[in-house]
Amino acid sequence: MLKSLELINFKSHRSTHLDLDDSRLHALVGQNSSGKTSILQALHYLSLLTDSDLTSIFANPKSPETIVTVGQDKISVSGSGFWKHQNKKPIWEASYELQKRSVDFWSPKVSWKIDQEPITIDGWSASFKNAPKPIHQELGQTVYLKLVVANLARADYSEAITPRVKSDGSELAPTLDYLRNETPEQFQSLQEMLKQVVPGVQKIGVRRAKVRIKRPKFSQADGKIFSYEESQEIVGQEVVLDMNTGDRIPAHAVSEGTMLALGLLTVLMSPEQPNLVLLDDVEQGLHPKAQRELMTVFKQIIQANPNLQIIFSTHSPYIVDELMPSQVHVLSNTNSGFTRCKRLDEHPDIEWAKQTLTTGEFWDAEGEDWVTAGEVNA
Ligand SMILES: Nc1ncnc2c1ncn2[C@@H]1O[C@H](COP(=O)(O)OP(=O)(O)OP(=O)(O)O)[C@@H](O)[C@H]1O
Ligand SMILES: [Mg+2]
Repeated sequence: MLKSLELINFKSHRSTHLDLDDSRLHALVGQNSSGKTSILQALHYLSLLTDSDLTSIFANPKSPETIVTVGQDKISVSGSGFWKHQNKKPIWEASYELQKRSVDFWSPKVSWKIDQEPITIDGWSASFKNAPKPIHQELGQTVYLKLVVANLARADYSEAITPRVKSDGSELAPTLDYLRNETPEQFQSLQEMLKQVVPGVQKIGVRRAKVRIKRPKFSQADGKIFSYEESQEIVGQEVVLDMNTGDRIPAHAVSEGTMLALGLLTVLMSPEQPNLVLLDDVEQGLHPKAQRELMTVFKQIIQANPNLQIIFSTHSPYIVDELMPSQVHVLSNTNSGFTRCKRLDEHPDIEWAKQTLTTGEFWDAEGEDWVTAGEVNA
């Protein structure tokens, strides 16, 4: 379970510390450009290191230049938490660090610690691949979602034995098809949850549909190998929803909010369920009532899955209303554009607010300026 996260010189975060409470549902709020997505991105990189090395994350050795806080020469991101296994509860830590040595040269390293033995690996090929199991269990099954409606609605197919909705929302239909055939009870619960968020929906269906795919091809001429793409039409699947009105609506004609809710719930209800789910702009496309229902459903899913933790960014007081102040991390920029972050329960008037206002009302009334209050020319 991720307990804390620290970002040093990651974009607008010069020094940001997040202390997550035990609720396993955490919101990031703050004005546009306050650094919410950056927190999810930094954490996503940390999780990717369980499976990939720094080279594949940063693509080229100059790219840290785009994420280091302007004027700084060292980035570091570290996460730490608990691990429940065989009645032991060791504390783990995992981090990556990039240090600028010259104009074009960054030297990176990763390190981890279980109990009290820190290990550090230098170089671009460093990763957590050889770290002990708790690091993989805690960070490896992370999903970062930026769902795109067009991808959710598209007819699609998957070659995977166990299909999964991808970060951008593609492969929803094959994933639902798999869930319906292999885990019908899970599929049923998913359907009930979607109906709770979007009451107009009666049934989720998946039907066969033509999908155009591009396959890489190679040919040889004069001793040289040429690569090209061949377009092919195959049979995949598309989502169809039966509505209360009796209509059967294909995914491309279903409302955007409905597709986003379906995509989110499918990820959360998949058999290979992630441990940590990072969601950017969780309320996009949803009516205030549907937003509240979505939070109720999230709480039900978390209750039923003791290893699941969800961190999301939001701009919605309706979403925040469904949370306790300790679940809300408020981000604000200083005059110089650096992010400061405090939990809403650190607000000086929290005791009064708890008795008088809902969490959403309190945030709406106080905004974010209190986070940086008293800082002069920071
Ligand atoms: N290298 C850098 N150094 C300093 N600041 C940076 C750097 N790169 C990006 N930024 C700043 O980091 C911030 C990134 O904000 P981010 O995308 O995380 O905001 P957000 O809270 O998700 O906003 P929104 O609500 O609009 O999605 C921006 O203010 C941007 O100007
Ligand atoms: Mg953002």
